[in-house]
Amino acid sequence: MLDLFVVIWIILFLSFLTIIIYGFPAILSAGPIPAHKKGIGKALELAKIKPGEKFYDLGCGDGRVLVKAVKKYDCYGVGYELVFPYYLLAKARAKLYGKSDKIDMKCKNFFKADLQNADVIFCFLTPRLMQKIGKLLKETEIKKGARLVSYGFSIKDMEPVEKIKHSKENWNIYLYKI
Ligand SMILES: C[S@@+](CC[C@H](N)C(=O)[O-])C[C@H]1O[C@@H](n2cnc3c(N)ncnc32)[C@H](O)[C@@H]1O
Repeated sequence: MLDLFVVIWIILFLSFLTIIIYGFPAILSAGPIPAHKKGIGKALELAKIKPGEKFYDLGCGDGRVLVKAVKKYDCYGVGYELVFPYYLLAKARAKLYGKSDKIDMKCKNFFKADLQNADVIFCFLTPRLMQKIGKLLKETEIKKGARLVSYGFSIKDMEPVEKIKHSKENWNIYLYKI
């Protein structure tokens, strides 16, 4: 019981530290809502990941998408997560499934990510952040032929090569080619 208390306090302290370092807006701009299980499957199918490719999750949360991609498609995963407790959860998940050696987890702002080696980029963010990602794609060096899958939100000035509906509530998943 005491141990649980200590763990909760450590998590609260780390969250507080994250807020101090990165500020509230960055964290609130895309909350911790994880992608839906069925939706993850559809998004990964859409990306047509090949074995050995590099799959990036920008804002990987608890790492569920990353771990599923690595398990199912035998790719390498790279995850960026700003909130330290989620980053720890993602690391723990990778370890639990024996995929730590194939997943590189970074507790870092994805706007500072090096995307040069990415074959597939996955995002589940907000409409506002997706516009910023669109800008980032234009300003950053990214492999020709790389794919970006956005769960839920489109990039306004980019035309998706494919768009699928993944729920009755009209949630879409968008595929972009770079
Ligand atoms: C909606 S959740 C999606 C989590 C995961 N990708 C999934 O689909 O289950 C968005 C995540 O992005 C993280 N995030 C938001 N802005 C970020 C940034 N600039 N750098 C790194 N992570 C960020 C949030 O902390 C949150 O965990």
